[in-house]
Parts: sequence; structure tokens; C-alpha cells
Amino acid sequence: MKLGLIGNGAIARVVAGHCAAHSDRFEIAAALGLETDVESVGAYPLVHDLPSLMSHHPDLVIECASQAAVAAHCAAILKSGCDVMIISVGAFAADELRQGLERAAHQGGAKIYIPPGALAGLDAISAARTDGLDEVTLRTRKPPKAWSGAPGVEGVDLDAITEPTVIFSGTAREAAQAFPKNANVAAAVALAGIGMDQTRVELIADPAASRNNHLITAHGPFGRLKIDVEAEPSPHNPKTSHLAALSIVRALDRLTEVLVL
Ligand SMILES: NC(=O)c1ccc[n+]([C@@H]2O[C@H](COP(=O)([O-])OP(=O)(O)OC[C@H]3O[C@@H](n4cnc5c(N)ncnc54)[C@H](O)[C@@H]3O)[C@@H](O)[C@H]2O)c1
Repeated sequence: MKLGLIGNGAIARVVAGHCAAHSDRFEIAAALGLETDVESVGAYPLVHDLPSLMSHHPDLVIECASQAAVAAHCAAILKSGCDVMIISVGAFAADELRQGLERAAHQGGAKIYIPPGALAGLDAISAARTDGLDEVTLRTRKPPKAWSGAPGVEGVDLDAITEPTVIFSGTAREAAQAFPKNANVAAAVALAGIGMDQTRVELIADPAASRNNHLITAHGPFGRLKIDVEAEPSPHNPKTSHLAALSIVRALDRLTEVLVL
């Protein structure tokens, strides 16, 4: 497969390493970065505009950049008939953007792949959805300072929190707006299950937490599930779980292996 990347950071570095180790299956033609990206994290050229990326005629473009990059580039790529894999899935919290991407994919006859990112169990939730789901919840627990800067904690003294404290309770859509940095996980659970307005989200500031913890629960006619993920941060970006990069690598392998798990 000939691949194009959008992004030149922590996740791109892992994808680049995997593709280099499996060069019989994958070739990264180029990566699109911001003007501030001057040196490629892989052995392929860095470009700074979409036409330069698409001039390599990739089979698939992997977005591992930002929600802004999804909004800026992915519809045009899909319209051109090229598949896209999107990791900044929080972009899907905006209905208009999601509808635009789906329209572009239909127009181009292309697919949008969304890897599970930092979460697990989205396969089971989306399978269970076939028979209907009664409830899906996400509870994310992080150290207090991990929430700083979010509009949802404006005026809250995070340093004064000495015991686990619920700082938000509401829908996935409200969570994505009030805590944009948590938007990826909220949107991913919502997309797999019962949508942005039905998925319940609780966010906790816990001084005893050392990793980012996501607890997903769901129940319906299929039964019940409870998935508890404690993901290690990427060595290159403390805000990103290393598992998110591995989920892209896994999604790529699924596209090229004959035994598809
Ligand atoms: N789905 C998930 O569970 C999950 C988990 C972790 C991270 N993410 C998302 O993955 C994305 C990448 O994470 P990372 O740790 O590699 O980030 P990073 O900051 O290490 O790297 C991002 C790269 O993308 C580039 N970039 C940003 N906006 C761009 C644009 N508009 N056009 C071109 N290039 C652009 C930056 O210059 C940088 O090179 C982020 O949006 C992050 O929120 C998703």
C-alpha cells in the first residue's frame, strides 16, 4: 500500500517505524505537516500543502495531526476517491463536519476508517448495537492538572482538589465541547454505540491517578460489558496514549493480512 500521512508528531513516528519495518507491505510516500514541521520523523519527504501530498497518488491517507487537519483536508481527499484513516476522531463531535465527510466519501467512492485509538471494546459495542443498546457510559479519570486549561474547569482551583472529584457529568457532545482534549474518546465511544447525545460521560479529577483511565460500560439485549483501560502515555507526547499509535498500526495490518482479526 502506498500511504500518505497528515502529521509529523508522536503518532506519525510510530506509524513510520512500523511501515519501515514492513516495507514489503507499506510505503509512506510523503507526510503533510504544518510550516513549523521542518524535519520529517520518517525516511520520506515532508510537504506543506495537500496537492503536494496527493501528487504521490496514495491508496490511503492517515490523519494523525489534529481535529483542524481533519476539517481542512479530509473531505477533499475523500472526494478524490482516496480512503482516509482518522485518529483525531473528536472532529466527529461536530455533526456538520461528520456529514460533510460522509458526503465526500460517498461522492468519491472512498472509505473513512476510524481505529479504536486509546480505547478498547469499540468492536463489541458496535456489534451489540445491532440489537439495540440501553445505555453506554464513559468515565475518564485523570490527575487534576491533566484537565487544566479546559473551558469546563474555568474558575475551578484544580490544585485544591485532594480527593477524587467529579468535574463533569453530561452527554458525550457536552463533554467534547467543555473538554476538547477528551473529545477523541467521548466521540469514539459515541460513534461506536448510541451517539453523541445518548452516551453519558463522567470526568473525574483524581490526585491519586498516575495514568489516564477510561472505564466504558454498556448494556442492552446482548448482555453487559465493562472495559477498563489504563494507557501509558507516548514517550514523545504525554497527552497521547501510545496505544492510539498502535491502533493505527493494527488497522493497517488488518488491511493487508489474509487472517483478519
Ligand atoms: N483517537 C484517540 O484515541 C487519540 C489518542 C491520542 C491522540 N489522538 C489524536 O491524534 C492526533 C495526533 O497526536 P500526536 O500525539 O501525534 O500529536 P503531535 O502533537 O505529536 O503531532 C501532531 C502533528 O500534526 C501536525 N499538524 C497539526 N495540525 C496540522 C494541520 N492542520 N495540517 C498538517 N499537519 C498538522 C503537527 O505539526 C505535528 O507534526 C491529535 O489530534 C490527538 O488528539 C487521538
